[in-house]
Amino acid sequence: MGKTTLTRNLAGLLAADGRRVLALDLDPQAALSTACKIDEPGPGQSLADVLDARPGTADLGSILREVAPGLWLAPSDISLSVVELTLQGRIGRETILRRALAPLGPRFDLCVIDCPPGLGLLSVNALTAAGGVVIPTQASGLDVRAVGLFLDTVRQLQEELNPGLQILGLVLTFFDARTIHARDARAALHGADLPILGAIGRTTRLAEAMTAGRGLAEHDPGNRQNANLRSIANEVARWLTT
Ligand SMILES: Nc1ncnc2c1ncn2[C@@H]1O[C@H](COP(=O)(O)OP(=O)(O)OP(=O)(O)O)[C@@H](O)[C@H]1O
Ligand SMILES: [Mg+2]
Repeated sequence: MGKTTLTRNLAGLLAADGRRVLALDLDPQAALSTACKIDEPGPGQSLADVLDARPGTADLGSILREVAPGLWLAPSDISLSVVELTLQGRIGRETILRRALAPLGPRFDLCVIDCPPGLGLLSVNALTAAGGVVIPTQASGLDVRAVGLFLDTVRQLQEELNPGLQILGLVLTFFDARTIHARDARAALHGADLPILGAIGRTTRLAEAMTAGRGLAEHDPGNRQNANLRSIANEVARWLTT
C-alpha cells in the first residue's frame, strides 16, 4: 500500500532538486497520472499505445508530458489492462518496456515506475527495466513471510532477466512508531535481515495532495511527513550516485 503516493512524491522531490525525472504510470488504474493532473491522456497518448503490439504504436518519447519543471510523465489509462493481456503471447514479453526506454536514457537522470498491484507482466516489465526497486509495504498487519516471498521473486528475476537490479529496500507506510504493532513490524523486518529504506506516517494531507495533482511538499509544506519523504528521496539520490 502506498506505491503510487510514494512514486508521485519521490518523482516530485527529485525533480525539484533539479534532476530530469521521468515518471511512468504502469498501472491501468492510472492513479499516478491523476496525481500528476493528467486525467485522460487522449488517443495515442497513453503507455498502452507504446506497449501495444499492433501497428502504429506510439514511441515512448512522443507521449511524455511535462507536468512540473523537470518532471515528465508517461501517462496511462484503462486500455493498458487489455494490452497487458496481449503481452503474454509476445516474443521477448518481459523486456518490452526496457527496449522502449532505452533511447530515452540520455534525456533523463532518473526514471521512476509506478507498478500495478501484483506481479503480472507489467510489473515484471518494470522490474526487468529497472536498476533498483523500492518496496512500499503497510506496517500494520505486516506479513514478513509475504515480503520474503516477494523478495525471492525479485531475486529470481535478477538471476533470469536483470542481474543489475538492486533492492534499495522497504518503505513502511502508514507507520506510527507509537504503536506496538508498528514497532513489532520494524523489529521483525530487522530480524529477517530485510533492508528498510524509510517510513511514512499516516496523514490525510497526502491523499488530498494526490487529488490536487501535487506532491506533499508543494501541497502542505509544513507537514511532518515531508521530512520522511525527503529522507527517502535522499536515499534514492545517494543510490543514484553510487
Ligand atoms: N501515508 C499515508 N497517509 C494517509 N493516506 C495515505 C498514505 N499513503 C497512501 N494513502 C492513501 O491510501 C490509498 C492507497 O494509496 P496508494 O494509491 O498510494 O497505494 P497503492 O499501493 O498505489 O495502491 P494500488 O495497489 O491500488 O495501486 C490512497 O487513497 C492514498 O491517498
Ligand atoms: Mg497505485
